[in-house]
Formats: sequence, C-alpha cells, structure tokens
Amino acid sequence: MERFDPFLEPAEADAMVRLFETFPGGYGMYVQESPKVGIGQGFLQRHDAALHFFETGGRSGKAVSLETFAARANTLRETYAYDRPVVAGIEPLLSNEKFSEAARRLFGKPIVVPNIVYANVVLPGQELSVHTDVPEFRGASRKHEPEWLLVVMHLSGLFERWRMPIATGVSWYGNCAGGGFYAYPEGIEGAEEQLPPKHNTATLLDTDSVFHGVDLVGEPDVDLPDLQPGIRLRHDGGTRWHVERDGREIAHYDWDDIRLSISWKAYCFADEAERRMVDEHTDDLTHERILATLVEDLRRRGCFRGDVPPDRELGEMLIREYVRFPLQPHVRRPQGGAAGEAKAS
Ligand SMILES: [Fe+2]
Repeated sequence: MERFDPFLEPAEADAMVRLFETFPGGYGMYVQESPKVGIGQGFLQRHDAALHFFETGGRSGKAVSLETFAARANTLRETYAYDRPVVAGIEPLLSNEKFSEAARRLFGKPIVVPNIVYANVVLPGQELSVHTDVPEFRGASRKHEPEWLLVVMHLSGLFERWRMPIATGVSWYGNCAGGGFYAYPEGIEGAEEQLPPKHNTATLLDTDSVFHGVDLVGEPDVDLPDLQPGIRLRHDGGTRWHVERDGREIAHYDWDDIRLSISWKAYCFADEAERRMVDEHTDDLTHERILATLVEDLRRRGCFRGDVPPDRELGEMLIREYVRFPLQPHVRRPQGGAAGEAKAS
C-alpha cells in the first residue's frame, strides 16, 4: 500500500477541486440494480458486505434499519473518465505517472492501462463498511455476474488464472472531518492502517484483495437527510453545496463537510500476449464453469451433501464460506448468525 503526500502539484490539486465543483449536473447516488433471476436472486449487489454490516453493526456496533443502512452506504459517484476522459481536465490524473509506476510495482506487471476515474462523495452521516472491491476476470465481470459472486470468486482463490489484476489509486481533496480510510494490507488478521482524507494525498493498493472502508463522515451524532436514489448534490458557488430531491433542497453543506475522493483504476498486464487474451476472448470463463467449480469446492469442503442447494441458499453458503472479514477492533458483535436476516429495527 503506497502513500503519496503530496500527490499532485498544488495547481493540479486545485484544478481537481474546480473540476469537482463544476462537473455538469452535480452528483447522484451510486445504486446498482439487483439481479432478478438466477443465483442469489433478490440479493443486494454487495450482499457480502451488507450481511457483514448487519450482523456486526459495522464500526459503531449499533443495529440500524435497512433504510438507514441504504442511506448511509449509498454514497455519491460520478465518472470522470472511462477508457478516455469524459470531462475536460481529468487527463493529468488519468495518465498520472505516480499511479502508473506504483501499479507496475504492485503486481510486477509492466503494462498498465488506466481504465476508469471517478469521484466518490461521502456526506456527513455516511460511511462505507468494510469490503473488498469488485474484481474482474476474463469472461466474468459485473456486466454479466452479480458483484458479490465476483467477490466470492476472487476470495475463493479458485480463479486466479483468469483474474485481471486491477490497481486502485485513491486521492483525496478538501478538508473534511472524519471519514478516515482504513485498510488491512497484511490480510484479515493483520493490523489496520488508517489514512485521514487529507487534501492532495493519495494511496495505491489492490482494493480487490485488501479489505478497506471509510469511517463515518462528520460528527458521530450527525443527522442524515432522507437520501434516496434520485437525489443530486450540487455546488451553489463559494463553499456552499446542497442536496436536492425532486427539485427541492433537502440539506445544505459547507465544502469542509463533504468527503471527496477521486479513484483511479488500471488493468495491469504482464505482456501484450496477456492483453490480447482479454481482447480476443481466447481464455474466458463461462457462468456454468464458475458455478460448477464453486459447487464442487463447497462439496469437497463438506458444506453440503447430496443435491446442490437451491439458488438463494447456495448464494449465502458461498458468501459465508469464502468471504472472511477482518476482525475489526471496534466490532463488538460476533460474525456469523442467522443467515441473510437483515434485521430492521
Ligand atoms: Fe472500495
């Protein structure tokens, strides 16, 4: 886990702040549709992280309702670059050499192809519970598979041959209180490292493998407005921002209340042949092969005997068997417990 302090030249960091303020249309919630059919139908896209949050109460250890969880966890996100810039001014970050060099070191793979840059906004009262990011494999990505299944695949270690290593660089701008980034770079039994979201600093790591999260932004007892899909965060000028729903302001903030990070993700390849394998789909996984491999491994581990469990049960079994979370010192309630019961209270 590399750190950069400072990250950009001061003028470049200021330009990121201006880009954030002037991004057309403001910022909306990042909510992914859940799959309607097949394995884990009705699961949340990140059922793994949600299950853990509900069973442990997250960093605060307090039980929350499903609605409160959604309002806290559904942070705001907009894309600045996807293969190429989608907004002017993002080029210096998309092609940032500090990140590219660190990515080469991270995986020992010399070809680094920046893929996406996006802004993450976390408002006071929001947090990101501990998780790993959604990985990608040749033949398996979030376009066709549920996100929790991709996480299960990676953490099972059964699909390493097909995994596409992705380096993630996270940079912070502004001066918000709280919202520290924490991570377990030495594994789930290793020490927790913390990084405050200090202006113009950054880190780079394998977020698909290293568990990480974002602490609550703002004061612990801060009121969270009724955040739902469809809200927009907009800049009013100066240091003022507001959140609107249906054209009506429901909350306003000062710049220093808001936590802004800009994430950069890049594919890393050993050589051109490896890159071609992706483009030409010469060694892709199939959905059937993924499930057959996982089911066979579950059976071998003694998780079930006889018939393969029905989809929902199988989905929960996969998450519980392969997604092992770090034992966070703040978490008071034990892991495990009743399967899949997101208790509203
Ligand atoms: Fe993440």
